[in-house]
Amino acid sequence: MKSYKIALLAGDGIGPEISRVTQNILLALSNKHGISFQFLEKDFGGSAIKSTGRPLPEDTLKTCEDSDAVLLAAIGDPKFDSLPRENRPETGLLKLRSELNLFANIRPVKISEALIKSSTLKEQIIKDVDLVVVRELTGGIYFGEPKGRISLETGGERAFNTMSYSSKEIDRIAKIAFEIAKNRREKLCSVDKANVLDVSQLWRERVIKIGSNYPNIEVNHQYVDNAAMQLVRNPAQFDVILTGNLFGDIISDEAAMLTGSIGMLPSASLPSSGPGVFEPVHGSAPDIAGKNLANPIAMILSGAMMLKIAFNEKEASNDLENAVDKVLEKGFRTSDLMSESSNKEIGCNELGEEIIKVIEEV
Ligand code: IPM
Ligand code: MN
Repeated sequence: MKSYKIALLAGDGIGPEISRVTQNILLALSNKHGISFQFLEKDFGGSAIKSTGRPLPEDTLKTCEDSDAVLLAAIGDPKFDSLPRENRPETGLLKLRSELNLFANIRPVKISEALIKSSTLKEQIIKDVDLVVVRELTGGIYFGEPKGRISLETGGERAFNTMSYSSKEIDRIAKIAFEIAKNRREKLCSVDKANVLDVSQLWRERVIKIGSNYPNIEVNHQYVDNAAMQLVRNPAQFDVILTGNLFGDIISDEAAMLTGSIGMLPSASLPSSGPGVFEPVHGSAPDIAGKNLANPIAMILSGAMMLKIAFNEKEASNDLENAVDKVLEKGFRTSDLMSESSNKEIGCNELGEEIIKVIEEV
């Protein structure tokens, strides 16, 4: 029997509840598909700050490095906002990304038939949306040097970050995006701000260069302000969106809302070799934590991405995605997805149980 070691990082806020639900679902799948999972649960983010004073303890990082994949729920808690930056939950996440070299962040945005009415956008705008955001994750302004704050002699302070990319960093993420486009509708849109930023000018030149190796792929370039507008004007025009770290962060939240709720979007963060991290795009939602209100679907679908990408367990992965669709078709919804009174509003745990029922049924 094939066995996989999963580092499970429940994190903060709604993290523990969506994590428990996802773990139970994976266990149900493993029984059915004759595979086995070993879950290694570790503190991360705010929960790790409480126990060790640091958001990414050595032991957690080591466990992630030694695992076959990392499944992460969410981190972040306003309680820690006043801590110095190096001790905040988000810094732990950035450190995990850079320590594991997770330069490629894949965020698929697919509309589930059953949820068309849950979107804040009109049905005819979103019905054909099927896109994937490929976001560079270990460079750009998130990591650029110099950065910091200085006091000015003239009084007051100045704070600064640096948006920088090397041609190597651009080339490797561009290749990933072109390879993904090759297996989809062969369209790639690179998003930058080349009309203003030098870093974007290099970005654009390198994407054109890498693109010359993929003659069948139709490439276009959009400035990020235009891309943000196009995403709500005509999102069906996009197949693969390739972009840098900061623009990708913003664009992917926007794209998530096309699906009806940010609670729907999974992601994979991948290195060139070693374990990847699979996590929802949404945050830790401290305002609804512990109330059984969270939508666990983004994390569950992140689990499906893990099964497919990290373990090559395509059958189990498809089984899981189908079960999620089935449960939505039956009308079960967490509160963030309620749009019609005929829908049945249930909690995070109950949604998980419905998914397990479907998995065990067929
Ligand atoms: C994301 C999140 C993170 C980011 C935060 C929590 C550091 O918003 O994964 O999109 O900005 O990358
Ligand atoms: Mn984000």
